[in-house]
Amino acid sequence: MSDAPLIEVKDLGVRLNTSRGPAQAVRGVNFALRRGETLGLVGESGCGKSVTALALMGLLPESAVISGSIRLDGAELIGLPDAAYCKLRGNRISMIFQEPMTALNPMHTIGHQVAEPLRRHTGVSAAEAQLEAIALLDRVGLPDAAKRVDAYPHQFSGGQRQRITVAMALACQPDVLIADEPTTALDVTIQGQILDLIAGLVEERGMSMILISHDLGVIAENVDRMMVMYGGTVVESGATDAVFARMGHPYTQGLFRARPRLGARKGTRLKTIAGTVPELADLPAGCTFADRCAIVEARCRAALPAVVDVGAAHGVRCIRTDVSMGAGGSSA
Ligand SMILES: Nc1ncnc2c1ncn2[C@@H]1O[C@H](COP(=O)(O)OP(=O)(O)OP(=O)(O)O)[C@@H](O)[C@H]1O
Ligand SMILES: [Mg+2]
Repeated sequence: MSDAPLIEVKDLGVRLNTSRGPAQAVRGVNFALRRGETLGLVGESGCGKSVTALALMGLLPESAVISGSIRLDGAELIGLPDAAYCKLRGNRISMIFQEPMTALNPMHTIGHQVAEPLRRHTGVSAAEAQLEAIALLDRVGLPDAAKRVDAYPHQFSGGQRQRITVAMALACQPDVLIADEPTTALDVTIQGQILDLIAGLVEERGMSMILISHDLGVIAENVDRMMVMYGGTVVESGATDAVFARMGHPYTQGLFRARPRLGARKGTRLKTIAGTVPELADLPAGCTFADRCAIVEARCRAALPAVVDVGAAHGVRCIRTDVSMGAGGSSA
């Protein structure tokens, strides 16, 4: 098998029309994903995770201006006509959305919806597609799949609906699965079950996965490599183990300190990161994190910092890694 990347993203930029005029939602995003590899995308709300995912899926609003390159098996996707994109979507590249009801149509039975991509992309008969849908619903752990295949989405619980969307996304055995906060709408015990289900299916079928989460714990447990996003840029990336062993960007360090911990003493306050994610239209000129960073200095605001290699394939977009990662680094 070739070692060529399945997905290769180079200098991806997305400009969106916001209520305050056009603004750069994503810039300078680079990554490659090989077959069978899993990549996590983590960062606070509004940092550009979903916009990046939607760019890969060709689902950005029509007014969006996209730049750079997205290659799937070497073929450029940017600028692909919609009819050609429709052949890929759900077939070679699939997405599970944060809120299951946005992916499910309340007017159609779940069997119809899981079978639909199969009929559209693989040309099997309606009866065959229905049988395959039942097998898939059974595989994702929907109880009594054969009996409930003609029920409607509202007749299921939130966790069951998310299982149904997993079945839909996987129906055509895509090469790449993008899971955008697939468990945020669910309670904690169900979250773990759904993540385990997705991870199991991804491994079983040798798929690649891009898992999006604001939760560092979810990323730590589920992906080989990770990218930390802030203000539309990737501020740190590397093998998950390497990043957790030596966090280089002050933002990654802040996210880590702010994570809720089991067994923390009662009354312990979470260390939050001061300030909030800036509005797109107000992003600072240089480092996007400059306004919230404890070790910022004047040159951080001059230009977007270049990526500094701090280990094998571990990059940090910060010019102050000498301090953030230094011995006794004040920021860690
Ligand atoms: N269709 C759109 N039109 C205008 N602005 C948008 C649009 N979609 C997203 N944005 C803006 O782009 C920025 C990035 O949004 P995005 O949805 O990628 O964030 P996110 O990292 O996925 O956050 P969350 O964790 O809340 O899902 C935000 O400032 C958001 O307001
Ligand atoms: Mg999002």
